[in-house]
Amino acid sequence: MCGIIGYVGAEPAADVVLDSLRRLEYRGYDSSGIATIDNGNLHVSRAVGKIKMLSAQLAVSPLPGTVGIGHTRWATHGGVTELNAHPHVAGGHVAIVHNGIIENYADIKARLIVAGVVFLSDTDSEVLAHLFHEAFTAGKTPVDALDQVLSEIKGAFALAAIAKQYPDCLMVARNASPLAIGLSDDLVCIASDAVAMAHLTRRVIYLKDGDRAVIRKGEAEIYDIDQQPANREIVTVSAAPMLVDKGGYRHFMEKEIHEQSDAISNTISAMTSETGAITAGFETEHLAAIKHIVILAAGTSFYAGQIGRYWIEQIAGIPVSVEVASEYRYRSPVTASYTTALLISQSGESLDTMKAMEFAKAAGLTTLGIVNVPDSTIARESDIVLPTRAGPEIGVASTKAFTAQLTVLLSLAIALGQQRGRLSIAEADALHAQMMSLPGAIGQAVSRFDEIRPIAHRLSRSHSAFFLGRGTLFPLACEAALKLKELSYVHAEGFAAGEMKHGPIALIEEGVPVICFVGPNELSKKTISNLREAEARGADVIVVCTDSMKDIVDFAEFTVTVPDCTELMAPLVMAIPAQIMAYLTASEKGTDVDQPRNLAKSVTVE
Ligand code: F6R
Repeated sequence: MCGIIGYVGAEPAADVVLDSLRRLEYRGYDSSGIATIDNGNLHVSRAVGKIKMLSAQLAVSPLPGTVGIGHTRWATHGGVTELNAHPHVAGGHVAIVHNGIIENYADIKARLIVAGVVFLSDTDSEVLAHLFHEAFTAGKTPVDALDQVLSEIKGAFALAAIAKQYPDCLMVARNASPLAIGLSDDLVCIASDAVAMAHLTRRVIYLKDGDRAVIRKGEAEIYDIDQQPANREIVTVSAAPMLVDKGGYRHFMEKEIHEQSDAISNTISAMTSETGAITAGFETEHLAAIKHIVILAAGTSFYAGQIGRYWIEQIAGIPVSVEVASEYRYRSPVTASYTTALLISQSGESLDTMKAMEFAKAAGLTTLGIVNVPDSTIARESDIVLPTRAGPEIGVASTKAFTAQLTVLLSLAIALGQQRGRLSIAEADALHAQMMSLPGAIGQAVSRFDEIRPIAHRLSRSHSAFFLGRGTLFPLACEAALKLKELSYVHAEGFAAGEMKHGPIALIEEGVPVICFVGPNELSKKTISNLREAEARGADVIVVCTDSMKDIVDFAEFTVTVPDCTELMAPLVMAIPAQIMAYLTASEKGTDVDQPRNLAKSVTVE
């Protein structure tokens, strides 16, 4: 998603900003750019494509100056072109970078065009450059210019501006998009993601909605939404300087698939008390207060939530509903019977999930955040945080964060089950022991790339594929389909195996791959009947099951096995072949595995 950076210090600003942009590279973008000020002149460089395109451009034509801003863009308004890339410039005097959407840009643009302004891009963001220019032309100071611009714009934004008239400062503001100021003795920087400046400083101020600030070397003058001076707390963040190292793997995704044993064992540790019980970090009375849960999340995190619902209802007997975050607050949900909103987000910055959290909070629900990025907005703003300890996830497609989310959800189900008296200590210990076997099972599952290669070869030649499962393996089937389509661009859908006959089966024709997760449980017989129905209509059946079930579907074209595990652990262990299948199919097709087209790692627009 778009990322913004700013720097005021003693070093060449373009170098520092470029380095920080590289640290945001994993979020996915289609163009980037930097602007600096030097000796009263504004300098700008923008390029379409990867950061290396911008870097090559800067190597030939460096930008001088020690004050600068930078941007990585993920197109919302206007195509992927250099003119639409940020920074946007007005009158050769002002440059801005912006993350978010200016909802009323069309009205502002119409007004400015009547006033004689010529627009160069198709973006909503360009209005910001002209609004600042208008304010400075009218003699406004930086603070007054910020107030004037912010009084006119509506929407979600994190923005930074530099201006020739004020060559020593950055002007910044935020509303509903994250923005942090980093402070150290000899520099001040700003970024939409603390990770981007963790190599410069760990002392950070998180601006609040409506805040605006004028930043000079060594100082940040902050004002709140009412234009009053604001004292914001300086916190020391734990964000590690981003590791941009693939550790010998071809792709971050491959590395992250291999990191899942560690991610799960670290997450289990975080969910376990000093006495060795799975408490998910809760005191008993807090667990007692959880009576009815709504899970809110997007994409892969949503599918983790759907699996979590099966577990929490089955193990703890607590009612759970699961909703895509982008729908929740717009459909007038009836919240009265709910006690708890459970937000699941790898990045902790998905705007849809953040907004759903705000809605749930305002409706009086306690918010629990299952979040991977520790200093993210959802981690900071939920009432209770259940951390996933997956470490930084760089590949755009979520892998280790997903299995870590499942680990937290299963831990929460066990903790709730015990608190409700539905699990005895011995039963809870037995489940704990099953969980402790996960890192080993997943380590083995990860070593089975070669078993999956022929399937990936087959999928890479298909136009469409269907994934089936029952119980917790139904949401896993949807997640497997999402992974395949987003990485390899092969059309894929996931269905409940029993639902196939109610419509989707019409799509089955000769040679269509149907991949089915067959779990170690009684329902497997019914699932196999559903597979027979598909096979009878020409489908090529591919089965994912456990080692001891390997001959269970004798009509399968391919069977992939995972180490034997219980039904409860199956979605965690079977997630691995689903990820490897998508990864290898994409590699075979030569698509950009770590940054698939049109996608971004954290989606900070609605
Ligand atoms: C798919 C994927 C996305 C994210 C979704 C939510 O592989 O990664 O579907 O799961 O955008 O992101 P978070 O979890 O950061 O809120």
